[in-house]
Amino acid sequence: MATGRFFREVELPQQKAQEDGAVFPAVLYPNHSADSTAVELCDFKEAIRAHKPWLNSLLQKSGAILFRGFPVTSPSDFNDVVQAFGYPEDFYAGARVFRVKVVDRVYTSNEAPPEKGIPFHHEMAYLFFFCEEEPQAGGETPIVLSHIIYEKMKERHPEFVAQLEEQGLTYTKVTNEEDDPSSIIGNGWKSTYNTDDKNVAEERAAKLGAKIEWIGNCAKVKTGPLPAVRIEKESGRKTWFNSLAVSYSGPASKKFCSGDTSVELGNGEPVADHAVEDYLKILEEECVAIPWKKGDVLLINNLMVLHGRRPLLKPPRRILASLCK
Ligand SMILES: [Fe+2]
Repeated sequence: MATGRFFREVELPQQKAQEDGAVFPAVLYPNHSADSTAVELCDFKEAIRAHKPWLNSLLQKSGAILFRGFPVTSPSDFNDVVQAFGYPEDFYAGARVFRVKVVDRVYTSNEAPPEKGIPFHHEMAYLFFFCEEEPQAGGETPIVLSHIIYEKMKERHPEFVAQLEEQGLTYTKVTNEEDDPSSIIGNGWKSTYNTDDKNVAEERAAKLGAKIEWIGNCAKVKTGPLPAVRIEKESGRKTWFNSLAVSYSGPASKKFCSGDTSVELGNGEPVADHAVEDYLKILEEECVAIPWKKGDVLLINNLMVLHGRRPLLKPPRRILASLCK
């Protein structure tokens, strides 16, 4: 296989075969992994630059690439790896999650207590994760291909999918003034919109397609209707691209979020609880959760793949993230 001289494609038991013969995710080791200490960070960075077209096409084919066995040991090493890919940085404007900057383009992935799981969701274009400290048990970052979810949902819940495609989804979240680090989507409105001024917050929300209604000093933020299904540019496939799992708080919810969230169809009608319940099951059936190893770098094409977080069962766990356009 044309993996270049530097990279070696490896199979792990958790990977899933796709219909077109690709595996999800792709897993790359250094070619001479028997003696991986011989590979230096500068070699890895150089190989990324040299093989970028091949890596990009592998990412497009597989949806995600796990780099394992490379000498990435610190947040600044990880930052260098992200830089080597050359994608422009994306900022977490309007983000609902609480993150802390570690170095340059590198942030903590989510400051919420690690024993809490995070439902499947998308970010924007490319997302890198780095495992600085591997969990003793639990704390995986499950990933799942969005077009598979679309296909399964269409097969099992055609009416619901037709509603989603027609109406889109509207999301509502009530946020406090200040951050709530105990919630997985706990950013207060002040840090979400980077201002103390309610008028400025309203303007910034409007730019992100959201409307704020004030309840005292709490912001009730309504976003949408937003499309719930998108068409992947490269392949023309339909993908499941929405925040239903994070925002849904109906009876099928496992109450992941302590924030006050809800989601409805674009026309204001409720979403079908039985379909959402099955959707959450399908995510679990179709996802891949590879236990983290220290030094792992996971590159995700966010437009093709949803990700989440499993509850940490045995600490420590330190996963850092970097978001790109
Ligand atoms: Fe995320």
